[in-house]
Amino acid sequence: MQKKKAEMTMNKPIYHITPEKGWMNDPNGLVEYNGVYHVFYQADPEHLINENIGWGHKISSDLLHWEECQPALLPNQSYDRDGCFTGSAVIKDDKMYLLYTGHVNQESGYIETQNLAVSKDGIHFEKYDGNPVIKNPPADTTMRFRDPKIWEKNGNYYAVIGGETEDKCGKVVYYRSRDLQEYTYCGVFADSDGSIGNMWECPNFVQIGNTDVLIISPKGLEKENGFSASFESGYMTGKMNYEEGMFSHASYKKLDHGFDFYAPQVMECGDRKILFAWFAIPDSPGKEMEDGWRHLLTIPRELKVASDNSLLMTPIEELKKLRTKVLEKTVPGASWNCNIENQPLELLLTGRYEELCFEIADKNEPLLEFTLKKDNIVLKQKREDGWQIRTCSYYDDIMRKMQIYMDYSTIEVFINDGRYVFSSRIYPVGSLDFRINAAADNEDGSLEIYSLSL
Ligand code: FRU
Repeated sequence: MQKKKAEMTMNKPIYHITPEKGWMNDPNGLVEYNGVYHVFYQADPEHLINENIGWGHKISSDLLHWEECQPALLPNQSYDRDGCFTGSAVIKDDKMYLLYTGHVNQESGYIETQNLAVSKDGIHFEKYDGNPVIKNPPADTTMRFRDPKIWEKNGNYYAVIGGETEDKCGKVVYYRSRDLQEYTYCGVFADSDGSIGNMWECPNFVQIGNTDVLIISPKGLEKENGFSASFESGYMTGKMNYEEGMFSHASYKKLDHGFDFYAPQVMECGDRKILFAWFAIPDSPGKEMEDGWRHLLTIPRELKVASDNSLLMTPIEELKKLRTKVLEKTVPGASWNCNIENQPLELLLTGRYEELCFEIADKNEPLLEFTLKKDNIVLKQKREDGWQIRTCSYYDDIMRKMQIYMDYSTIEVFINDGRYVFSSRIYPVGSLDFRINAAADNEDGSLEIYSLSL
């Protein structure tokens, strides 16, 4: 099914995690194990849609170069025969455990159970004989009951699982276990009145410094409630009281404001918390289908909590090692433009900008435009269905930094150290025209563009 390299119609991104062939969706089981970073992901190598989903697997020692391993989980048991869906990993007694959702289609609907697999070397996995370890959804939860994220705290293991109430409101429930095999239901972790979608997929719970964070991917969002697409990912910061079994949290905020970002998961590397997301939403086209693969993951981003309790997402420092050549180094002034061949690159703009318009055109056809004005940032982008916009409230007086990563068909924009982030797929056909218009001269400003290679 996969075309030979010479026949490829588009260049494949080089520093993002992509499938060798076929379909890719959510990152799964992100874990550091004996000094090696493991990224699993939802994979169907034989199809360009998610027909027969198992877990693909890649490993790295530097978060930049990824080596393909054999598939970790295949849908081959009575309890997961229609998909080994999303889940997570935890290390116990030097073994790696995966907790994942087994999906089984039925004449009416489906059954989703939670299952365990274990590995002594992080490469070969055996499914547990006693599966499923969580058989039924708790009361007031429909059959949509999936994507366990497990962590350890004070000798107990906790798992949050995404779900939907009978009234079609998104929620997250949680369980506790001492041994990873037997689970006690602890109750609702977080829920909603239905205004944030009907189902919360891929919950993640992570402690960053003193702040606890629940990340969710709501689906079934409605434009009338102010959402721009029916899928997005967001978070709530707060504090988990393990004695009282209570997660007190602030209100929901969106995590990434671009067109193609969903189902993020966090890898815990000591104090560093590194997020990868699916670089798509279920509606994203994925033009690379013509080349026998579809979708990819975002670059790894380090998560921090700002003083106002918002999450900041910045590209990991390691990415700087990819800088190979300076393509441009200038003071952009009030307006600047240049033409650069489409290639893996990083653009770094610093200074003090009250307002800014940043454009990319392809063969003189506008492709994408960022406008940063008082109160909001607007991303306007040419998509399959014409010009579309995404907006995000902007709380800063001055833009100090804009860092952009591009990898042939991707763009990830980080403004003011990851306070505002936009991730989108783009499909330029020619070289790229970059244009910047700042409202005033910026003598202190600097603009650097680097070509990147592995
Ligand atoms: C999110 C999701 C998960 C599910 C997986 C199936 O993209 O729908 O809820 O486990 O994808 O591939």
